[in-house]
Amino acid sequence: MNIILLGAPGAGKGTQASRITETYGMPHISTGDIFRAHMKAETPVGIIAKSYIDKGQLVPDDITCEIVESRLAQDDCRKNGYMLDGFPRTIPQAEMLDGIEQIDAVINIDVDMSLLMDRLCGRRVCKSCGESYHVSRLNGSNTCEKCGGELFQRKDDNPETVSSRLQVYTAQTAPLIAYYTKKGLLINVQGGGTPDEVFVQVREKLDALNK
Ligand code: AP5
Ligand code: MG
Repeated sequence: MNIILLGAPGAGKGTQASRITETYGMPHISTGDIFRAHMKAETPVGIIAKSYIDKGQLVPDDITCEIVESRLAQDDCRKNGYMLDGFPRTIPQAEMLDGIEQIDAVINIDVDMSLLMDRLCGRRVCKSCGESYHVSRLNGSNTCEKCGGELFQRKDDNPETVSSRLQVYTAQTAPLIAYYTKKGLLINVQGGGTPDEVFVQVREKLDALNK
């Protein structure tokens, strides 16, 4: 199955992605994670990406599409499909993907926008395994419950950058909901419950597709 996870910043794409990957055994391709790895290694792509990500803007389509195209050509994507998290994010990116791949389902995690600022500014991420937590549930701990790794706060999770990311989502990414609805691929899940409650819905829909 080739799946896209769509949703606003903080909708819970990464949180659901780790559950989907564990259950269905497919590679998790997050363009945000790929850019952050480039930024850490200070590669030419990382230096360009940083100048956009720090401002809450999208990295240009040509750079993003090239990265995704080469990632999708790797062997692990040819076995059991893959799950794209954070790509596509613009209509031109979706059109590029249509030209090279067949997508089976687009899961749109629908969350009230008023919840997102708190979710993002309170997020802490594990340096080792990438698991996300909210600071309010950590009781002062700075350690990942899954692997014991150290938690950190993403640089783009501050009120000013989050506000810009949410505006960019509305202007450039939300139109993909109509785009994939027209193609008959969109599956909506309500993202306002707990992560496990959201995953119950995701699982029901994906299992129904697999039958
Ligand atoms: P990216 O890393 O993809 O960030 P994003 O889309 O802004 O989404 P997030 O990762 O912030 O949120 P999420 O939906 O994964 O939520 P999470 O599960 O962590 O992209 C970063 C940047 O890279 C972009 O701004 C852009 O510049 C660039 N970029 C990436 N892809 C690009 C592309 N295709 N084109 C151009 N540029 C691109 O959850 C968030 C928080 O909520 C956590 O604290 C979590 O614990 C909590 N939470 C999750 N689910 C629930 C729940 N059900 N109930 C309560 N809390 C929850
Ligand atoms: Mg994410």
